[in-house]
Amino acid sequence: MSEVLAYIDQNQQRFQDELFDLLRIPSVSTDSSKNEDVKKAAAFLKNQLNSIGLENVTVFPTAKHPIVYGDYLHAGSDKPTVLIYGHYDVQPPDPLELWKSEPFTPTIKDGKVYARGSADDKGQAYIHVKSVEALLKTTGKLPVNVKFILEGEEEIGSPNLVPFLTTHKDMLSCDMVLISDTSMFAKDVPSITYGLRGLAYMEIEVVSANIDLHSGVYGGAVQNPINVLCEIIAKLKDENGVIQIPGFYDKVRLLTEDEREAYKLLPFDEEEYKNELGIDDVFGEKGYSTLERASARPTLDANGIWGGYQAEGAKTVLPSKAGAKVSMRLVPDQDPKEIAELFKMHIEKLAPIGVKVKVEEHHGGWPAVTDLDFYGMRAAATAFTDIFGKEPLFTREGGSIPIVASFKSILGVNSILMGFGLNSDAIHSPNEHFSLNDFHRGIKTSARFLQVLAE
Ligand code: BES
Ligand code: MN
Ligand code: MN
Repeated sequence: MSEVLAYIDQNQQRFQDELFDLLRIPSVSTDSSKNEDVKKAAAFLKNQLNSIGLENVTVFPTAKHPIVYGDYLHAGSDKPTVLIYGHYDVQPPDPLELWKSEPFTPTIKDGKVYARGSADDKGQAYIHVKSVEALLKTTGKLPVNVKFILEGEEEIGSPNLVPFLTTHKDMLSCDMVLISDTSMFAKDVPSITYGLRGLAYMEIEVVSANIDLHSGVYGGAVQNPINVLCEIIAKLKDENGVIQIPGFYDKVRLLTEDEREAYKLLPFDEEEYKNELGIDDVFGEKGYSTLERASARPTLDANGIWGGYQAEGAKTVLPSKAGAKVSMRLVPDQDPKEIAELFKMHIEKLAPIGVKVKVEEHHGGWPAVTDLDFYGMRAAATAFTDIFGKEPLFTREGGSIPIVASFKSILGVNSILMGFGLNSDAIHSPNEHFSLNDFHRGIKTSARFLQVLAE
């Protein structure tokens, strides 16, 4: 092992330089004007997988963005096979004016690299590419069988990876999936995420008259779609933060007493949390703690709302249309399709006379939890302990990686979520960053994990 760790230390600068090359590619999956850049990022990774010595390296085109695959299957059939998943697509960098450095010009400050995708997920995915390189270059082999699957559509809901798992079931067969696309509980507090929330993402459109109207001439006589939309949204939760959609909570798996006790033991400081966010109080579903609300309970939130006059000054207008995007984070055993249907039915029921209300469904994803007793989880804990010098915590997180549930339902395997990011990394926000020390320690932890698994 010491030889492998020494190699990782000696090559720290080059690993960083390579990551920066990847970060310079604006692979925004939702923006079709960036399709060529997404392809470039896939080609970059293909070259990388080839150069570190993987075999069967292939870029699979899909209806949208490509999937990159590569493997090493010479550890022997008595050794486990680990499928390493990551995504090389990123969220749009907007709003650009809030970035202190260019989003696609990696910039180092205070030991962190600032760039879109640095933490989510290029920096974290690249950790495993480099750990495999270190093992192969120093020992000439890998302790376990490894397959890489790197996708370019995670941020748009993995529409093509889900069917790909079915059509390439044999190629992807494995004993577990390893993913670094989550956060540590806090700085220097390593953690293994055993639960992720699911997602149902909806859009509501409210239309009143066929044209914008003078708010004096018509105001008071016809419905105003903005007012209607606000009333509808306001009715979706009560004053205790409880979601009012009939049937919404029916399949929610309740936290056990043991789980609730474990939550209480996590080193969480609510005052610090409030200070960091600049809020004077937290708010959420009554009867649950902040950590429970943000990871083990479902939510409903407007993500965007528009309508009417938004520019400078005042315009007296009664808009003809208003819209909102509303997402619901789901927990086991809620079904995203079913929740989307319940939402739709409820909104249609809330729609008053005088307007047309349309509800549309965007992407969704199933929640997931991994069994803590799974041997891969224990191996991950050992690897963290060896490299970070601290036993990791086991936590559930509020974000979503929809493919995790598909790995379970289609390939029949658990995912080990070995996150090296921090919640404060500003993923999806301006000035996203990733600690270079955690990038470095992550490579060592990944290499150690693959070794521990073989023992
Ligand atoms: N890596 C995140 C998910 C995440 C972040 C999990 C932090 C745990 C902690 C992932 O790239 C992501 O952003 N997922 C989306 C879902 C997707 C369907 C757009 C999300 O959670 O909003
Ligand atoms: Mn991610
Ligand atoms: Mn993301």
